[in-house]
Amino acid sequence: MTRASGAIGVRIAGTGSAVPERRLTNDDLAKMVDTNDEWIVQRTGIRERRVCDPSREGTFTLNRDALKNALDASGMKGSDLDLIIVGTCTQEMSCPSVACRVAGEVGAVGAGAFDVVAACSGFVYSMNVADSLIRSGRFKRIGVCGGDAMSSVIDYQERSVSILFGDAAGAAVLVADENPDRGCVYQQLGSDGRDWSGLYLPRRAQEVPEADRDNPIRLGCLRMNGREVFKFAVNRFRQVIEEALEATKLTPDDLSQVICHQSNIRIIESAMEKIGLPKDKVFVNIDRFGNSSAGSVGLCLDQVWRAGKVPAGKPMMMVAFGGGMTWASGVWNV
Ligand code: COA
Repeated sequence: MTRASGAIGVRIAGTGSAVPERRLTNDDLAKMVDTNDEWIVQRTGIRERRVCDPSREGTFTLNRDALKNALDASGMKGSDLDLIIVGTCTQEMSCPSVACRVAGEVGAVGAGAFDVVAACSGFVYSMNVADSLIRSGRFKRIGVCGGDAMSSVIDYQERSVSILFGDAAGAAVLVADENPDRGCVYQQLGSDGRDWSGLYLPRRAQEVPEADRDNPIRLGCLRMNGREVFKFAVNRFRQVIEEALEATKLTPDDLSQVICHQSNIRIIESAMEKIGLPKDKVFVNIDRFGNSSAGSVGLCLDQVWRAGKVPAGKPMMMVAFGGGMTWASGVWNV
């Protein structure tokens, strides 16, 4: 939907990101399961991904560090924030939320804090919700994070899922702005819960659908029907971008960047080709970071932001899809 009328706009005051130091290359994976670098690069575009050292890193630390970086870039302190939203699906604990722990560590005592669970769409969902809350006039400065430690929910004995995912978090600090045309001028949040079993993370045997009872991936780890998800992603990705362009009457030429979820290079390229998006408008880092779920779009945003690829005066688009199934897009005047 397009922006509701109102006098408040939203400015991205700064961005940040965090990734673990440890690299897991395709050759490293080939030592763990029956796969190889050539197959992975050809089918996914991924060469390596980052993975946490579970003794000291995880979803909470990645989101905390990404937000700290975004606050530094904004010249703000945690105590300036009145709300923190974290998009994630790999929370260490269901209570407290990751957002509460992040708020506690960045000094945002008293700020509201909650997690958004929309899998790989988590960061775009959270940015859209934050923009709407600022436009409502109820919040002025929101720290938005998206981040997952996917390595904590991957069965590395199994090759179909383990090759895709990595760990990362991205963050942005959003502040109220006097220009109502600044911020998210169009957004979409979507889901279709009918096909949830194409990509899911079962904790208990009761949750596993009959048709998936023989799945060798152990409980507590991510399961995926790769071909089904691929079909869904290619179609939905294209459709969501086309709907955003149509609603805003923009063409690909009008955009500075389309910052898209890094799921598979073939999914990204297929959408680019069908929509006619030139290569220089679609940021890609999947080769180095794999699919970091809710971390992916936030990490890309931070990298394009710091590289000066999203200048004021040209809108940019963020788009993601993921488990649920979920999808989301946002067109932003920065
Ligand atoms: N290494 C080597 N071979 C592998 C392999 C691996 N890691 N994984 C599967 N294979 C084999 C299969 O066993 C199969 O062999 P067979 O033909 O002898 O049966 C063959 O490769 C093809 O498998 P398939 O599953 O059809 O491959 P694919 O082309 O669909 O690629 C994915 C698999 C997972 C890369 C692809 O389906 C995909 O990217 N799906 C979307 C995933 C996604 O984006 N998820 C996140 C959404 S947010």
